[in-house]
Amino acid sequence: MSIDPARSAQDVATPNDLESQWLPFTPNRQFKREPRLLVRAKDVHYYKPDGTAVLDATAGLWCCNAGHCRDEIVKAIQTQAGELDFAPSFQFGHPKAFELASRIAALAPADLDHVFFCNSGSEAGDTALKIAIAYHRANGEGTRTRLIGRERGYHGVGFGGISVGGMVANRKFFGPLLSGVDHLPHTYNRAEQAFTKGQPEWGAHLADELQRLVDLHDASTIAAVIVEPMAGSTGVLPPPKGYLQRLRELCTRHGILLIFDEVITGFGRLGYATASERFGVTPDIITFAKGITSGTVPMGGAIVRTHIYEAFQTGPDHAIDLFHGYTYSGHPLAAAAGLATLDLYRKESLFERAQALEPVFADAIMSLKGHKLIADIRQIGLAGAVDLVPLEGLPGKRGFDAMRAAFHDENMMVRVSGDSIAFSPPLIIDKARIAEIFERFRKVLDRIG
Ligand SMILES: Cc1ncc(COP(=O)(O)O)c(C=O)c1O
Repeated sequence: MSIDPARSAQDVATPNDLESQWLPFTPNRQFKREPRLLVRAKDVHYYKPDGTAVLDATAGLWCCNAGHCRDEIVKAIQTQAGELDFAPSFQFGHPKAFELASRIAALAPADLDHVFFCNSGSEAGDTALKIAIAYHRANGEGTRTRLIGRERGYHGVGFGGISVGGMVANRKFFGPLLSGVDHLPHTYNRAEQAFTKGQPEWGAHLADELQRLVDLHDASTIAAVIVEPMAGSTGVLPPPKGYLQRLRELCTRHGILLIFDEVITGFGRLGYATASERFGVTPDIITFAKGITSGTVPMGGAIVRTHIYEAFQTGPDHAIDLFHGYTYSGHPLAAAAGLATLDLYRKESLFERAQALEPVFADAIMSLKGHKLIADIRQIGLAGAVDLVPLEGLPGKRGFDAMRAAFHDENMMVRVSGDSIAFSPPLIIDKARIAEIFERFRKVLDRIG
């Protein structure tokens, strides 16, 4: 194409053939043949380019807990953009980030009262792991560098996160990963737990595997254990009753920091500000992202207990206490969005709403039991997943077909992970819409069966 040099770059029409963007975690060739495009959103709906409403059964990607394009949040972001667009958080600060940190600390359990901001769940995971290792060093225990994750865990896509994570496909392409990492077994056992509402009775003993790892490596080499209190991305695996308590006891006994990755469970998904609160187990570090801004502006962070923060406050006055941070840590737009989001959660009692709706959601998802394509169903809070019977020799194909059919035929967004389909609607959903989600999904199953 020849371009008239007199025309500005902006005048040149750019073809939008969908080719240039390489989408994450997506089969790009298929997508570009049959795109799933969204052009606008409001409350519990997205809209396709032709104006068709799409029921959002996944709060975007587990993040839009307050629903979409809520006026209060939109206005806060707009106002902030015109007032303070950016302020460095290295050696400087701005009031809203401090205010948001205080508000988050107030929602966190016990003495988890210092907040380190970043921009995503992946960064939050890596931040927490680095803080854990650096904490032990600051504490005179520099041999504690080993990190323990869990099979079927997801902590984002940084090298730290995939190293402690337990999703095979996210790891196998990327070389040897971090050294000095080990994994607990995952807690899912279909024979023992199938079709359980909430926490399964079976599985608390699997936490004792941590003792085996301590016996193998010695506690003096272990910095931290990181788990999702409810594993989300591998298909909503609620913790067995007593499991998190046992992990807590073992970590305390051996001086190991316990990190809860609450990127999904934080801010209402399980009916509380944190899963730690719901399960009555206090970790040493909590990571969060997604729901803090209801998905509107990227933000994440790590909340740490007082003694962890204090361990870094020992050097001379001019010396940096933690050599870690991101240009956009505590970004003004994210901070403004976070404050408006927390206001909305409180004003509309959305965490309590999730609690009240949990039994309705649980009954609705379990009503799919008995369908010939369904192998298991799990649920906790306003999160649930169904495992589909895989197609012989084609793992992931049935899940993918279900996600496609949900979008194209039933105008509904669901989340696919292999042959599992997850549901995590915005917390503003109501009973009728919950019923609608599973009625539509039953039609999807009938269609692809
Ligand atoms: C538990 C957990 N940790 C971390 C992440 C990564 O978050 P992000 O995609 O914002 O990096 C996710 C994303 O789904 C998550 O579910």
